Amino acid sequence: MRTPIIAGNWKMNNTVEEALSLVRELKETLNDVKDREVVVCPSFTALYAVANELKGTNLKLGAQNCYFEDEGAYTGEISPVMLKDLGVEYVVIGHSERRTYFNENDDLVNKKAKALLQKGLKPIICVGETLEQREAGETETLVRKQVFRDLDGIEPYQLKDVVIAYEPIWAIGTGKTATSQEANRVIALIRATIKEMYSEKEANTLRIQYGGSVKPGNAKDLMNQRDIDGALVGGASLKAESFEAIVKY
Ligand code: PGA
Repeated sequence: MRTPIIAGNWKMNNTVEEALSLVRELKETLNDVKDREVVVCPSFTALYAVANELKGTNLKLGAQNCYFEDEGAYTGEISPVMLKDLGVEYVVIGHSERRTYFNENDDLVNKKAKALLQKGLKPIICVGETLEQREAGETETLVRKQVFRDLDGIEPYQLKDVVIAYEPIWAIGTGKTATSQEANRVIALIRATIKEMYSEKEANTLRIQYGGSVKPGNAKDLMNQRDIDGALVGGASLKAESFEAIVKY
């Protein structure tokens, strides 16, 4: 009943021409995919060109970040209004790279989530623990705390437009994947947290992705887990062949 959502997070890669050539390849093989949502998240500089290239296809456009204000003196920032104007539908927020390198915290992620929803955009909110936190047995407490803080003040009716991505930080770009059972266990815990904050209905409908070294070889096993509703794919989304294989797991 939950439509799987597979998103490619291209991170800080691809010039406009490179982005266009990747998206042209993806269009050819993924345009017939109907039972799952496919999203590509290029860098800001390629969004406009990719948006035009995606017109009339099934593929959706996502951005990798945004600020929470509509406009104003915030040098270097991009607003939800600007993203909406380009035809962006999803926005990744709270990615661990933003939390680690740019000091983003749950309060900021929460402001961004609310601003996006208010503008009719759909946040993909990333949560997940570091290796030290996992080894210290803090995974559950940390992930629950992130979910509580990131969704604070978001109304039940808005949750249909929210996606959560569980990305254990130790699995991102490292080639180490959480086992599908372990990924499912933490994702089920996130779902239980949603039930606690909202109700069973919201818990059953909210989509939760797994992210962290998703590859063609492990996608099927992860996606077949009961609580995993898709993937946020970094490295393997930069080549058409591997992203296609993941989408068609
Ligand atoms: P990865 O990145 O697939 O390269 O591990 C995932 C992510 O950061 O979203």
